[in-house]
Amino acid sequence: MDRSSAKERIEQLRRELHRHNHLYYVEAAPEISDFEFDLMLQELEGLEKKYPEFSDDNSPTKRVGSDIVEGFEQHPHEIPMLSLGNTYSREELADFEARIRKTIDEGVEYVCELKYDGVAISLTYENGSLVRALTRGDGVVGDDVTTNVRTIRSIPLKLTGHDYPPRFEIRGEVLMPLEGFRKMNEARSKRGEQVFANPRNATAGTLKMQNSAVVAQRPLDCYLYAAALKEQVFETHFESLNACKAWGFKIPPYSNLVGSLEEVYAYIDHWAGKRGELPFEIDGVVVKVNSLDQQRILGFTAKTPRWAIAYKFKAQQASTKLLGVDFQVGRTGAVTPVANLAPVPLAGTTVKRASLHNADQMRMLDLREEDVVFVEKGGDIIPKIVGVDKAQRTGDPPAIRFIRHCPECGTELVRLPGEAAHYCPNAYGCPPQIRERIEHFISRKAMNINAAGATIALLYKEGLVSNPADLYQLQYEDIIGLERFAEKSSQNLVASIQESREVPFPRVLYALGIRYVGETVAKKLAQYFGSIHRLREASMEELVEVEEIGERIAGSVISFFDDPKNNEIIGALEQAGLQLESEQTADEGLASEKLKDMTFVISGKFSDYSRDELKELVEKHGGKNVGSVSSKTSYILAGKNMGPEKLKKAEALGIPVISVEDFMELIKD
Ligand code: IVH
Repeated sequence: MDRSSAKERIEQLRRELHRHNHLYYVEAAPEISDFEFDLMLQELEGLEKKYPEFSDDNSPTKRVGSDIVEGFEQHPHEIPMLSLGNTYSREELADFEARIRKTIDEGVEYVCELKYDGVAISLTYENGSLVRALTRGDGVVGDDVTTNVRTIRSIPLKLTGHDYPPRFEIRGEVLMPLEGFRKMNEARSKRGEQVFANPRNATAGTLKMQNSAVVAQRPLDCYLYAAALKEQVFETHFESLNACKAWGFKIPPYSNLVGSLEEVYAYIDHWAGKRGELPFEIDGVVVKVNSLDQQRILGFTAKTPRWAIAYKFKAQQASTKLLGVDFQVGRTGAVTPVANLAPVPLAGTTVKRASLHNADQMRMLDLREEDVVFVEKGGDIIPKIVGVDKAQRTGDPPAIRFIRHCPECGTELVRLPGEAAHYCPNAYGCPPQIRERIEHFISRKAMNINAAGATIALLYKEGLVSNPADLYQLQYEDIIGLERFAEKSSQNLVASIQESREVPFPRVLYALGIRYVGETVAKKLAQYFGSIHRLREASMEELVEVEEIGERIAGSVISFFDDPKNNEIIGALEQAGLQLESEQTADEGLASEKLKDMTFVISGKFSDYSRDELKELVEKHGGKNVGSVSSKTSYILAGKNMGPEKLKKAEALGIPVISVEDFMELIKD
């Protein structure tokens, strides 16, 4: 490779890796397997080594990912939270062992553990009580998810026994066992909600929820695999795990203490074959040096320990013939390519269809007609195509191209800058978009109108409804006589529509199906603005003032109200008597107006009040809560260990930082 093509490749890899990092850590919706990611990263590392003149501090090789999400306090880890080096072959494992042998010239014992496919967590215990739970974040600072983690039943809130250190951190993995995951997804799909792609995504999404009551309903579990003690009280890792077990922690089942590389291979082979029988997902095996003295001698590289390594399983793959590609149009108009495949058994099910994600993905695969493709099921519900078996291709078959026009309505597709998906812009004329919007509108968490998808399709086909507001014009006479509609079912439908007029405003707002406005965001917007009219008038600046609302959501809200058609429908819904403002108008139910026009940022830990209680007090006295400090913030209500970033910003902007006692003075009668 010459210099200039190396430069090009480096830049391309960096772009791709940044994008996949974001998909993985921020969106919790990865498009490629860890294996593919690691391959790209390795290629980049190699090139950067060879061509140091193209080095860049912001290269994906120079940082570990971050899962930090706005809306959580961040705290430093007392001991940095590193990750593990990955290997995929025996040779690499042998190299790992050889490196250890160079430093340690006595016998080395290894502990083989399963590599849980979940989300890493660090728990801090003080005098035997759980005081904090942090995600890995960037390894130095993590998000404080204590409230959510407290709901995980297998995590002890209080330890048993007495011989635990007065203060220590312990690391492990939060995960969602398969049975619970499947049940949860089934229920979600019945309710018309989006299903999670795999247990890891479900775990990551759940841990970052703002409502721990919902978290408590989710079937999370946690295995602790390393006590991060500042003083060495144990001789071996194995011994420390057993102590952790005695203190009440759930420690990894199926760990083996072995004395040779051969035994490590045997452990790997065993679990590579049996992983499907475990009640949770694993993505490999972790091999750790058992002696803590030896661990200390071996030490760390910049990012990973030298005494442990992860052997990752390749996702389960199969190859099969591509029969064709369908293009599906969703509620938002996004077009998803889906491959039809010759049925092939894979990891316990028969695969007939696989997602191709988007046009870029198709181009990257260089998919041709009649190709033999590799499908992979990395725990994902929907299998994906990860490659083409080019050796089986004969001649130069025609490429499969992404369509240019909507398969449903013929409108030319558009692709917004910075987005991977193509959209059909004909929101109000494209049948599946219309039907799915109405289906979303009536779903249980929205207007809860009791009708099946097939009913909506029928009403639409008969020309009776083409938008949510039309539902409120439906009369008994219109429905009776339609296919499958008898007296009783017609009455029920009309009654259910009638009842939905009482559904409170936040749910109506959610029902409108504004892009990125899910249930939680709808609640926040409804609470902040109080009515659809005030929300419609809101500017970008006002919208981003609302806790958890960033520019992406704000932009989507604004463009929704910019569309005259949407306003027409809202007008008709208003006519129909729907709840388009919050019941509790501005000052009803307020304890006082002492905090009127004031905005508060609550930060840190409080001993006498929960943050939710404090937030409620702010609202009860007419104030507003926001998530981040800006020049418009009136006060910062600070507890113990408030976020250092917030404090810096507050000082820079000269915003008063007050204690709970000061706050109580403010609202005192
Ligand atoms: S030990 C110093 N043990 O894998 C690193 N990690 O790629 C200590 N993981 O971030 C990690 N199972 O989230 C360890 N038995 C196990 C594990 C495990 C899963 C995860 C963990 C870590 C990642 C490393």
